[in-house]
Amino acid sequence: MAQVTLNQLTKHFDDTPVVKGISLTVEDGEFFSLLGPSGCGKTTILRMLAGFTFPTSGTIFFDDQDVSYIPPNKRNTGMVFQNYALFPHMTVFENVAFGLRTRKVPKAERADRVAGALKLVGLSGLEARPVPLLSGGQQQRVALARAVVIEPNLLLLDEPLSNLDAKLREETRDQIRDLQKQLGITTIYVTHDQEEALAVSDRIAVMDDGICQQLDTPDVIYRQPANRFVATFMGKMNLWEGTLADEDGQCLFRHESGLTILLPQNTTMDEGPVFLAMRPQTIKLSPDVLGNTTAGSVIDRQFKGATVEFVVEVAGERITVVTHSDDPIAGKQPGEEVWVQMPGDQAIVLKD
Ligand SMILES: Nc1ncnc2c1ncn2[C@@H]1O[C@H](COP(=O)(O)OP(=O)(O)O)[C@@H](O)[C@H]1O
Ligand SMILES: [Mg+2]
Repeated sequence: MAQVTLNQLTKHFDDTPVVKGISLTVEDGEFFSLLGPSGCGKTTILRMLAGFTFPTSGTIFFDDQDVSYIPPNKRNTGMVFQNYALFPHMTVFENVAFGLRTRKVPKAERADRVAGALKLVGLSGLEARPVPLLSGGQQQRVALARAVVIEPNLLLLDEPLSNLDAKLREETRDQIRDLQKQLGITTIYVTHDQEEALAVSDRIAVMDDGICQQLDTPDVIYRQPANRFVATFMGKMNLWEGTLADEDGQCLFRHESGLTILLPQNTTMDEGPVFLAMRPQTIKLSPDVLGNTTAGSVIDRQFKGATVEFVVEVAGERITVVTHSDDPIAGKQPGEEVWVQMPGDQAIVLKD
């Protein structure tokens, strides 16, 4: 197992920077995710960690060893790719045993370790099966077994669930998480899917355009996003630009539409424009006027099973509101009037 430290890690392709000075430490045994939109540099970082490509500048340490320019076969990392990257002409056994053969592990030990790894991923008994005869989910589990059988210091997973259908994605995700906890291998997991990252990670680095925007636990990233990018990337979010004003000792957020939201007393009053972010599920709809409510009308309604997602127009602004579908208000249809309560104590004030 290893602690992994990136110091000002930078990668350019033809003078174009795609990883721009990333510094972070992944703790020994941690499940760490790199989360961000396509093209933000996640795979490039993973490839530098595996040694498939070298940094333009900056360093990578595994514990106190500088591995920045060490070839892949000297790093003892296990990698799982989105497209499985199994050897199609080999059986399940041969695929999983591959890394052990190149490491010259004796035959009897090889058989034991392959059996152990296949058991871990729930594929015991499929040793002799040719890879093309496996389902996508099974293939990805073979890839996982192949990565962990070498007892890597570091497990690298690059969007390992992207090619699986929704149900299998969740099952395999939970299996990866359980396996990681059981083995305690330091793991770096790359995904563009915020829900996936929130579900499996001890900590997440949210990336955009080669830069780390925020690094924290899933709870903090979801509840206290550092900026607009993180706020809107981590699930649905309402966002307004406006100003804060002190009125009779109360802190008010004012939007140009005339919409005002009363914020908690302890809100830091900054000069200049601010952004107010509010999760759709914190906004309440009611059929009658309550304290601190604003009139709105339903523009759109989408039934999602456990929840209903509304678009409601308030003061000329369209906001998203999510209610439980068993709440009577969830029956409101487009064109109907509702009262909207926007709880200032659930609002997130952002400067950039
Ligand atoms: N070998 C390469 N040569 C040139 N550009 C590359 C190469 N690999 C990746 N890129 C570019 O670097 C950026 C980051 O890519 P990548 O790390 O694959 O992003 P992600 O995995 O987050 O989608 C993208 O703009 C991509 O086109
Ligand atoms: Mg990628």
